[in-house]
Amino acid sequence: MKGLILAAGRGTRLRPLTHTRPKPVIRVAGRPIIHYAVENLLAAGMEEIGVVVSPETEKDIREALSGYKVRYLLQEEPQGLAHAVAVARGFLGDGPFVLYLGDNLFQRGIGRFLEAFREGVSAVLALVRVKDPRQFGVAVLEGDRIVRLLEKPKEPPSDLAVAGVYVFGPEIWETVEGLKPSARGEYEITDAIQGLIDRGRKVVGVEVEGWWKDTGRPQDLLDANRLLLEELSPKVEGEVVKSQLTGRVVVEKGAKVVGSTVIGPAFIGEGAVVEEAYVGPFTSLGPGARVVRAEVEYSILEDHALLEDVALRLQESILGVGAEVRSRNGLPRAHRLILGDLSQVELA
Ligand code: DAU
Repeated sequence: MKGLILAAGRGTRLRPLTHTRPKPVIRVAGRPIIHYAVENLLAAGMEEIGVVVSPETEKDIREALSGYKVRYLLQEEPQGLAHAVAVARGFLGDGPFVLYLGDNLFQRGIGRFLEAFREGVSAVLALVRVKDPRQFGVAVLEGDRIVRLLEKPKEPPSDLAVAGVYVFGPEIWETVEGLKPSARGEYEITDAIQGLIDRGRKVVGVEVEGWWKDTGRPQDLLDANRLLLEELSPKVEGEVVKSQLTGRVVVEKGAKVVGSTVIGPAFIGEGAVVEEAYVGPFTSLGPGARVVRAEVEYSILEDHALLEDVALRLQESILGVGAEVRSRNGLPRAHRLILGDLSQVELA
């Protein structure tokens, strides 16, 4: 079976973080989100993996996946999930396939959904109960069978949201190919699946086990980071000098922790520096990030981000690639920051 990851979207809800880079390359617990998708597909035995990219996202996605063997498929415009699938028609051929949204995270992988894909089933959808399903696809179930599917309904008929993994038989092409754009102008995969239901095909819903995250908003990234760090196995490959590491801490090779306190779970990426600093629980530092004479917890610092000489503790913050926060004189007061790549903040 083949796997298809979608990574061609604009990620507007995560701006400014996604002004310069696509959402699936943002790091949680030290790794780009899209790595978890590839790993889950490989663990489920996919023979080949395709990744749909756009002209804007292609370069960053290729870089993030440089160690993996995948096929890149270009979607010129983000015209909807069904459009992205249609772009991959040649790659997917006539066999069944798994569609995986590149910004979704599943704690327990995708084995459960594949198990439910058996003779006579045309599609399997991962479902999850949520408090407010209005921002998702929403399913109505009868037994294990989905009898109705709506995209982002104002009045959801159930609390079962569609999570970002789908298993499809080749029947999906019957309805993808004749699809019309929805009211919001997108070719919706939800409409293609409703088309299967209307033709009497069997579409099955399987509830997600463990946690699931659609990393649509900054708070979702911090949550995902926390959840993944909770599963971290401690490992120290970098240099630790006159410092205290407590709990589950990863210090990757080339990283340096000097005169500091790190309380896990925490991830200090390759070449990162922690100096005379405090790094508290649920914090990830990307490669080359630096925390110097500063305190940070429950935060993500992306590659080469810098936090220096900041007297008060930074919490629940995300610093994009190369973003810098420094304080030269006086104590800053406010400390909740979502900074896009290359931002510079001087707290004076
Ligand atoms: O996260 C689950 C939800 O994902 C489902 O509940 C919805 O039914 C489904 O439509 C989808 O909704 P989103 O609004 O979250 O989709 P989004 O536009 O964020 O796109 C999801 C991924 O697909 C994202 O990684 C970008 C990629 N994408 C998106 C579009 C519109 C493409 O590759 N091409 C596209 O044209």
